[in-house]
Amino acid sequence: MSESGSIPRVYSRIAGTGSYLPAKVLTNDDLSKIVDTSDEWIAARTGIRQRHIAADGETTGDLAYHAAVRALQSAGVEPDELDLIVLGTTTPDLVFPSTACLLQHRLGANGCGAFDVNAACSGFLYAISVADKFIRTGDARTVLVVGSETLTRMVDWSERTTCVLFGDGAGAVVLKADAETGILSTHLHADGAKKELLWNPVGVSVGFKENEKNVGVRIQMAGSDVFKYAVKALDSVVEETLEANGLDRHDIDWLIPHQANLRIIEATAKRLDMPMERVIVTVDKHGNTSSGSVPLALDHAIRSGQVQRGQLLLLEAFGGGFTWGSALLRY
Ligand code: UT7
Repeated sequence: MSESGSIPRVYSRIAGTGSYLPAKVLTNDDLSKIVDTSDEWIAARTGIRQRHIAADGETTGDLAYHAAVRALQSAGVEPDELDLIVLGTTTPDLVFPSTACLLQHRLGANGCGAFDVNAACSGFLYAISVADKFIRTGDARTVLVVGSETLTRMVDWSERTTCVLFGDGAGAVVLKADAETGILSTHLHADGAKKELLWNPVGVSVGFKENEKNVGVRIQMAGSDVFKYAVKALDSVVEETLEANGLDRHDIDWLIPHQANLRIIEATAKRLDMPMERVIVTVDKHGNTSSGSVPLALDHAIRSGQVQRGQLLLLEAFGGGFTWGSALLRY
């Protein structure tokens, strides 16, 4: 209890970050040899210049492991100090056990809770929101949160409207309980009515067989519909976040958005009246890595020295489901 008699709030503060991209790079020019596209079209419509592709046999769990080791090192935390691992992914290694369990064992963090969260491209925002609740309620003090994907495993390489967009990658953060500051609020949303605009309609219960249109086990997307919905949903969650914290849009130091399309990022920045110099953009380097995208951008921003301790960061993402969400935090 504090002197005033109220229970002091506990915050989840980022103690360290890490990320990992597979070695193989596929440029827009490489893609133009596979499908009818061009570097000019892809760069102008999406901002993407290249993406990384996991090697044969390299899994979501492998990417997560490398990102997690880097995050633990930067936080100065040993794996056996972890109370919980929450991993956002829509491309798990196996149907079960969860990729979080595989990661837990490989890190040597045996015994702590570990589970996956599937919210497509919003996976990291959903995962960090859950982790924050564990810390705020006192059920955990040190939590590893990961976003990791091998999306290119379910890309149709003959479909130019989708194959140019996605890449593989992972990012991770270590959250620690802090008495002063950290995550201020998180906001999650979903609209399952829009599932068919962005999905991969196969699975254990539905079945993995290709359907009569021969389109199973592949990402399908109505690009421009998703684009319009994403811009509106992100506008609305950004407003909601500012309002919940009694903040003005000019109070935000850095926007760290989901890296799907530079034009969507620019639309959100415009809404925040934020110059692009204060927006972290990495989509050019790795395309849309789904759950990996926000923690990849965050790690880049911190390691490059752009984001400094004490600054106010707004993280947001939108993806299949639809799902979308935000996190406001003081770094
Ligand atoms: O992370 C989850 C959320 N996902 C997203 O946020 C993705 C949202 N959507 C988008 O980013 C954009 O809608 C795309 C990048 C997918 C597409 O951009 P667009 O400006 O909406 O283009 P469009 O789909 O309206 O297509 C315009 C034209 C079409 O040709 P016609 O019909 O005008 O002759 C397409 O066939 O561009 C053509 N096109 C391409 N041309 C060259 C589509 N894909 C390609 C391509 N290369 N790769």
